[in-house]
Formats: sequence, C-alpha cells, structure tokens
Amino acid sequence: MSEPRPPLVLGIETSCDETAAAVVAGDRRVLAEALLSQLDEHRPYGGVVPEIAARAHLDHLDALVRRAMAEAKIGFGDLAGVAATGGPGLIGGIMVGVMTAKAIAAVHRLPFLAINHLEGHALSVRLTADIPFPYLLLLVSGGHCQLLTVEGVGRYHRLGTTIDDAVGEAFDKSAKLLGLGYPGGPALEAAATGGNPKRFALPRPMLGRAGCDFSFSGLKTALRHAIEALPPGPIDARDLADLAASFQAAIADVLADRTGNAIAAYGQKGGTLVVAGGVAANAAIRARLGALAEKAGLRFTAPPPRLCTDNAAMIAWAGLERLRLGLTDGLDFAPRPRWPLDRSAA
Ligand code: KG4
Ligand code: ZN
Repeated sequence: MSEPRPPLVLGIETSCDETAAAVVAGDRRVLAEALLSQLDEHRPYGGVVPEIAARAHLDHLDALVRRAMAEAKIGFGDLAGVAATGGPGLIGGIMVGVMTAKAIAAVHRLPFLAINHLEGHALSVRLTADIPFPYLLLLVSGGHCQLLTVEGVGRYHRLGTTIDDAVGEAFDKSAKLLGLGYPGGPALEAAATGGNPKRFALPRPMLGRAGCDFSFSGLKTALRHAIEALPPGPIDARDLADLAASFQAAIADVLADRTGNAIAAYGQKGGTLVVAGGVAANAAIRARLGALAEKAGLRFTAPPPRLCTDNAAMIAWAGLERLRLGLTDGLDFAPRPRWPLDRSAA
C-alpha cells in the first residue's frame, strides 16, 4: 500500500494590494506561488486606493490561480479544499477572492475555508517551523499592532493593541515625510542603513508604562518636527540616514518594551515568542526581539521575510490547519471588513 498523500489546499489573498494564489501541501511544501503586487497602480497616490485595488484583483486573480495550479502540476480535483481571505481588509478585494474560491469549491465539490487574514499571519510561522501551541505573538502589519497569546487554531487572547496608528502605518507615513517611496517600510529600512540611531532624540510613546498597548502617532509628529528643524530644501543623505535610523530605533524600543511586558504576563518559561506580519520583515526589529526573547529564556521565531508580507501561502496554510480540525465554512459566508482575532477584546 502506498502512503496517503498529504492534502493540498489552494489559497487566495486579495485583502489589500497584493493579488496572490498559492498551493500548499499538508507536509509544509509550497508547491506553487503566484503573486502580483499592485505597487505601480497605487504609487501615484502614495497609498492603496480601494477602488483601484478591487478592479486589479478582478482583472488578475483568475490568471494567477491558473498559473499557480499549472506550476503545482495539479487539477482542481486534486485539491482537498479552497481557502480565501474572508476579512479583515478592503471589502471589494475580499469579495473578489471569496467569490472566486466559492466558485471553484462549488464546481469541484470541495470544502471552502474563509480565512481571517490575521490568522494567516498568526499561523504563518508554523508553515516553516515546528512551533507548538501556545506561543506569544507580536503581530505587526500595515493595519495592526497587537500582542496576543495563540492557544490554538481559532483561539487567540489579546494582551494589547495600538491606541492610534498601526506600526506599518507609522513606517509608511514617516517614509512619506522623509520623501521616500511607497510602500514606506522597506524604503525606510534601506534608508536607515549606516545611519546614526542616536542623533535625533525621538520619543518612545508608552515606554515604561504598565500593560501591552501601543501608540505611534506622537513619534510620527516628532519626526515631522525634526525634519522641519533642518535647513530648508531637500533632506541631505546624511540627515536622511540618521532620521530613518533614529525613527527605526524608537520603534524597536517601543516594540521591545511592550513585548517585555507581555512576556512577563505570559510567564511561560521555555515558550516561544513569534513576530509576524509585514513589519516583521524588518531586520533591526527582528534582531531586537530576538535579543529580548533570549534574555527572557524564550525561543524566538519569525517567518522568512517573504512570508511576513502579504502572501497566499499563509492563507493556504491556515486553510490546511482549519481543514485538519474540520473547521470549514458554508458557501453563504459573507466577507467581513472587520474581523478581530479575539472577539472578546473587540
Ligand atoms: O502584512 P502586510 O504585508 O499587509 C497588511 O496586512 O497590512 O504589512 C504591510 C506593512 C506596510 O506598512 C509596510 O510598510 C510594512 O508592512 N513593511 C515593513 C517592512 N516591510 C514591510 N516595515 C518595516 N520594515 C520592513 N522591512
Ligand atoms: Zn497582512
């Protein structure tokens, strides 16, 4: 008798400005990934325009799904399920992804899985490493900044969240102030290379305060004041590097301080600290959190950078995790522009 083959799930991600499809196997192999960034469409506006995003998802998703299936060398009949991001995010894009996944599921009589995008980020680390539940999670993306305990699939307890901007949003807005391109996070990280992180004394909002909440809007304002205090005209290369490095250091300090409080509250010696979401691609932030975890006696893990930013492999993986537990969804599932991971904390 031959070994049973690991189940295959098609994942679809359309909640923001990436149109993506991927096929992932239950044994953690990513068989295919097709991704289209809408950077060029949104760049002239300095941010994501919802109507343009929805239109682009509609124009490209079918071809990306076909490309992923061809690359995986399988037909729809070989799938064990179809997963799509069901929220939170931009409603137009989510509708495109959910309708496409439902259509494939209906025609081929496959289970449909509506995935919470945040759960995709939260479980992404288990796609590449054998990380058991529970673990402590710092989720840092363009729309969110949260500390959570991950007890299991679908079981999250929120310890803290941002009271104003998300951390990725702070990166993006600050990059704009510095005249860097969109998206701002990677541009700001690159600009900070070789900069002096101590030159500009930027504030560390919430530092030293009890609890696990975050605040970033004051930091962004302080950066604007620091820029305004420079000689008029374009920011020169030295000032730019020092401003970016100082901003990044302030963010890393705040994240480390709040995560330190979460580690104390979580109290699991020998447990794991995970950082996930787009901002987790930042090397300075990864290094800072790694050092914090080591000092506290925790294991530290972050997904590889390509799995930190939005992608469909993490959606397929969350689909596999849910399928394993029989947590499938009906074709009457309605997209959810808002969908907190911990409903009791909403
Ligand atoms: O998870 P993600 O791709 O999309 C959301 O779910 O929001 O996160 C996107 C965010 C953007 O704000 C982007 O600027 C930020 O992640 N980001 C970074 C880096 N790469 C992406 N921020 C700092 N450093 C980076 N290397
Ligand atoms: Zn995301």
